[in-house]
Amino acid sequence: APAALRSLLAARIRDVPDHPRKGVTFKDITPLLADPAAFGALTETLAELCHRHGATKVVGLEARGFILAAPVAVRAGLGFVPVRKAGKLPGATLGQAYDLEYGSAEIEIHAEDLESGDRVMVIDDVLATGGTAEASLSLIRRAGAEVAGVAVLMELSFLDGRRRLEPGLSGAPLEVL
Ligand code: PRP
Repeated sequence: APAALRSLLAARIRDVPDHPRKGVTFKDITPLLADPAAFGALTETLAELCHRHGATKVVGLEARGFILAAPVAVRAGLGFVPVRKAGKLPGATLGQAYDLEYGSAEIEIHAEDLESGDRVMVIDDVLATGGTAEASLSLIRRAGAEVAGVAVLMELSFLDGRRRLEPGLSGAPLEVL
């Protein structure tokens, strides 16, 4: 990302200690969303990334990924496709379960929202263990589309999500702003 955007992100993403549990530091993007200049610059940069990587669709990962990805899709002139937690989408879905630190989770996509020939940019706020993003890539491929890349605002490097995600990217870029 441009240096000016990077410093805006650093100034507008707040570390909240011991949320939602003791020992976890939560990355709160709400100050960024409340600043129209910062949110606008972020949207612009992500829309450019979509074009650079030849995306035809933008996928947002529930819930914070929705907030970021939807304006990017509009700005880039591309369709927006939600990946939701299981049980929320009303149509015919594809589902993918994945392991969490304790237990497991499942996400879903509407199968008809993607088609062969689509190239999908996945957008989320943070890459932590990489489980959610990795599962989203397999949904995209199973829906018949290609992965154009994954873009996140932050990476929690100590959780090594990049290593978990890399095989599923098969050469597509991971962009960390
Ligand atoms: C957070 C974050 C990512 C995911 C990253 O979402 O927004 O989607 O976790 O974690 P991972 O890399 O370990 O999979 P969360 O599940 O808290 O959902 P929310 O946005 O609905 O609060």
